Amino acid sequence: MIKDEIAALWDSAKTEITAAASPEALETLRVRYLGKKGELTAILKQMGGLSADERPVVGALANELREKLETALEARREVLAREALISRLAAETLDVTLPGKTVPIGKRHPLTTVLEETEAIFIGMGFTIAEGPEIEYSVHNFDRLNVPAGHPARDRQDTFYFDDDDRILLRPQTSPVQVRYMETHRPPIRVISPGRVYRKDEVDATHSPLFHQIEGLVVDKGITMGDLKGALNTMVEGLYGAGAKTRFRPHHFPFTEPSCEVDVQCFECGGAGCRVCKGEGWIELLGAGMVHPNVLAGCGIDPAVYSGFAFGVGIERMAMRRFHISDMRLLYENDLRFLAQF
Ligand code: DAH
Repeated sequence: MIKDEIAALWDSAKTEITAAASPEALETLRVRYLGKKGELTAILKQMGGLSADERPVVGALANELREKLETALEARREVLAREALISRLAAETLDVTLPGKTVPIGKRHPLTTVLEETEAIFIGMGFTIAEGPEIEYSVHNFDRLNVPAGHPARDRQDTFYFDDDDRILLRPQTSPVQVRYMETHRPPIRVISPGRVYRKDEVDATHSPLFHQIEGLVVDKGITMGDLKGALNTMVEGLYGAGAKTRFRPHHFPFTEPSCEVDVQCFECGGAGCRVCKGEGWIELLGAGMVHPNVLAGCGIDPAVYSGFAFGVGIERMAMRRFHISDMRLLYENDLRFLAQF
C-alpha cells in the first residue's frame, strides 16, 4: 500500500535527518528524499495507478510528507550551524587583556609650529597674511628694494638665477613681497608674508640652500621705530615667554633707513654667556628697519605722508632657538625619532 510506504519513508527519513552529522550529509539526504530522482518523486509517480477516490487522499499525504521533510531538514541545519559556532568560539580564544594596537598620531613639524605661533601673534595685532612667488624678478628682489646695480647682494655666487641676464631668480629673501604688496595695496598696510627662500649656501649646521623666512611690513601715517620695537617685542615675548628681552643694534640694509638687527637675550644662560650664545649672552634673531623712502616712492606711496617699518626673520633660526635644536639639518631629515620629540 502506498500509504504505508509514505509512513515508512517518514520514519526512516526522520531518524536519518536527526542523525546527520554535517551540512554535507544533510544535503545528501535532501537530494535522496526530495530531489528529482528522490524517493518522494518515486512515490508520486505511482499515483497514476490509483483510483479517483484514493488519489486526493494520497496526494495530501505526499504533500504533508514533503512539508515534514523540509521542516526536519531546516531544523537539523540550524542545530548543526549552532553547534559549529559553539565549537568555533571554544577553539578561538580571545585575550581581552592584551594591549591594543596603537595608532600612531602625527605631530606638527617644529618649523610649522613656529610659523603658526608667529602668524597667530601677528594676526592678534591686526596683521593679515600675504603671499608672493618663489620665482621672482630681479626688479622686485633688488631694484625696487633700493639695491643698486653692482651691489654684492646681486652676486651670482649667492643667488640662483634662471637666465644669463640675471632677470629672473629663485628669491633669496621674502622682502620682494613688500614691493608686490605695496604695488597693489594702499596704506594702512599691516602684513606678514611667510615662505621659502633660496641661496647658494653649502649645507652645514646653520645653512641650507632652501630655508624659510617671514617678512613683515607696516605702512601708515606716523609709523615710527617705536612701533617696530613694540611689534617685535610682542613677537619675541609670544615665542620665548613673557620677559624675554630684545636688543636692537644698528645695521645696514638697502631697503631700510635706519636699519637694525634684533637679538634676543639667551634663553639658556639668561645673558650670562654660554655655549648656546657663544659667550655673547645674546642671540641674533632678525633684520629690520624703517622702510626706505625710495622703496615707498617706487611703489607709488608718498614718503612725505607715509612711513613704515619692515622686518625679515628666519623661521629655522626661530625654531632652533625655540626648541634648542643645535643643527639645522635635523629639521629636513624627516627622522621620526627626532621629530617625535616636539
Ligand atoms: N631680507 C633680509 C635678509 O634676508 C632681512 C630683512 C632685513 C628684511 C631688514 C627686512 C628688513 O624687511 O627691513 O637678510
